[in-house]
Amino acid sequence: MDIRFEKRDVLKNKPDENKLGFGKYMTDYMFICDWSKDLGWHDARIVPEGPIEIDPACMVLHYAQETFEGLKAYRTAEGKIQLFRPEMNAARMIRSNERLCMPAFPVEDFVEAVKALVKVEKDWVPSAADTSLYIRPYMFATESALGVHMASSYKFMILTCPVGAYYESGLDPVKIYVEDELVRAVDGGTGFTKCGGNYAGSIAGQVKAEKLGYEQVLWLDGAEKKYVEEVGSMNIMFKIDNEIWTAPAGRTVLPGVTRDSMLHILRDWGYTVHEEHLAIDDLMKAGLEGRLEEVFGTGTAAVISPVGELRYKDDVVVINNMKTGELTQKLYDTLTGIQWGKLEDKYGWTQPVE
Ligand code: COI
Repeated sequence: MDIRFEKRDVLKNKPDENKLGFGKYMTDYMFICDWSKDLGWHDARIVPEGPIEIDPACMVLHYAQETFEGLKAYRTAEGKIQLFRPEMNAARMIRSNERLCMPAFPVEDFVEAVKALVKVEKDWVPSAADTSLYIRPYMFATESALGVHMASSYKFMILTCPVGAYYESGLDPVKIYVEDELVRAVDGGTGFTKCGGNYAGSIAGQVKAEKLGYEQVLWLDGAEKKYVEEVGSMNIMFKIDNEIWTAPAGRTVLPGVTRDSMLHILRDWGYTVHEEHLAIDDLMKAGLEGRLEEVFGTGTAAVISPVGELRYKDDVVVINNMKTGELTQKLYDTLTGIQWGKLEDKYGWTQPVE
């Protein structure tokens, strides 16, 4: 892929690495590539980050034909920069796009574009503890038309921003509300994709949970509201009687890169892992009987988020006395150890940005 570069006149001031929060400070540059029916992908470029012009009739504004990804670049103690399993994000985006009738951006071009942008922005990759450069590839329909159909033009873009913890609570346990009215996904829908629409539909549940004093929502399946699926911005795992349970991904649940990595590590450590439907009634029963040992969310942005309390209807279960569990902490240390290059990467998951 030929990537043209357009230089910025004045570089931005960089934020304090110890006060990054999440997703607030975009770097100096962004990647853009256009797609049209006639030309396919063309005009790949890295240009100054800033507003882009779109037509008021741009289809994404009306019908939400949009998909996105999230991955990170990590600075190692030696000052090198590395990515974590970027091909998985690229492949997942292709699956999301297939479902939304959007063109595929080839895996090798995706990784090349990410690496090219991170290389340009290498001085933006933070080195303070628990910080990284968040990378947000996304694609949307740009055709100007009000009829509902597959658009004839799209943009694929990548933004980058230095980040700290996604949740202010960091690795402190959060309280989760199990949503029993609204649903996030149904079989045959877009639940397995990373499309903006899935997140738009989840906000009402998040608002409701926050009003009730809970930080996040646990979604149940859309057909029967019987089985646990995922949390607003993460997959979720349960340790019951020393075995791990998580919902099967690929139909209504997002196949998370962090989810896959954690399951791999857990199996490697000898844990029995059930990628199976788990009924909320059985989960609450395990909690009330003291068999629900640990609960944690997993995602690129959040890494791992321990859960200290679950509320389902009138039942409340407190997990591990509202403390971060031993396994949760060990998984966090292991995964982030690999990502930041502090531990040997025996799985071959990291790759350098040179
Ligand atoms: C991520 O974990 O990277 C995501 O894309 C979740 C998003 C809601 C921040």
